[in-house]
Amino acid sequence: MQTVAVLSLKGGVGKTTVVLGLASAAMRRGVRTLVVDLDPQCNATSCLEPEETTKGLSDVLADPRPEVLREAVSGSSWGEEVDVLVGSEDAESHNGHHDEEHLARLTTALSELDGLIEDGELPYQLVLLDCPPSLGRLTRSALVAADRALLVTEPTIFAVSGVQRAFEAVQAERKSTNPKLQPLGVIVNRVRPRSHEHQFRIDELRDIFGPLVLPVALPDRLAVQQAQGACMPIHQWGTPGAREVALAFNLVLARTLRAGRQRRPDEDELEEDE
Ligand SMILES: Nc1ncnc2c1ncn2[C@@H]1O[C@H](COP(=O)(O)OP(=O)(O)O)[C@@H](O)[C@H]1O
Ligand SMILES: [Mg+2]
Repeated sequence: MQTVAVLSLKGGVGKTTVVLGLASAAMRRGVRTLVVDLDPQCNATSCLEPEETTKGLSDVLADPRPEVLREAVSGSSWGEEVDVLVGSEDAESHNGHHDEEHLARLTTALSELDGLIEDGELPYQLVLLDCPPSLGRLTRSALVAADRALLVTEPTIFAVSGVQRAFEAVQAERKSTNPKLQPLGVIVNRVRPRSHEHQFRIDELRDIFGPLVLPVALPDRLAVQQAQGACMPIHQWGTPGAREVALAFNLVLARTLRAGRQRRPDEDELEEDE
């Protein structure tokens, strides 16, 4: 099982879009996936339309026992490959506690996931943690639980400093609580390929972060908003723009799964570009 925290310093740059796009790509490949909605805005949960649950993320963080987890995880309307640990609007109330026991609760809960699998069901191969837009305790919980951190940015003038700070948070968590945590890379979202400004910003990111900037960027396409509005996987939206975005997500998913297979304890950076 590969657990990926999707984070950024700001809201609105595309974390949830990346989580949903990867879940959509995973579904297409038959990779069983759990989306964990850590954002109190619960956008990922809304888009995956789970059945009503009696518990949610904040209950799991208050009490990470398997029976609570079981009540908080639901199937999605997308298909049997994608489940969701539903978000809670009051998850913010957990954002204050920074002691290690609190930070480890998500990890504890996720370690019980295999116990949720019923006869004939596949185990989860991928867990996607959709983080809120701050480096508060919820995002730290995700970094404690994750194998990999995927940073999302837009190609703007503030991208470099934002990515730098997010990397520092990843490195700090790796040193203090989670030695297995590795950066998966930086994904640049909402790129307009003909924009010189965007190209300039991407080159700037590559100069500083080298191969950590993923070779595939996500184009800015209306189809992303349309598919989300209709609660549909981008792979099923079917317009030319949707196909372009879906293809990019296939490549990011392949890289994510490969990183899971190639993980080494002393690995310092992600693998060479192929
Ligand atoms: N590549 C894209 N093309 C078009 N719209 C996008 C793209 N990525 C994100 N958006 C839109 O931008 C808004 C914010 O994205 P979202 O993924 O919710 O950001 P975050 O989770 O970081 O707050 C959403 O309305 C989403 O549909
Ligand atoms: Mg979001």
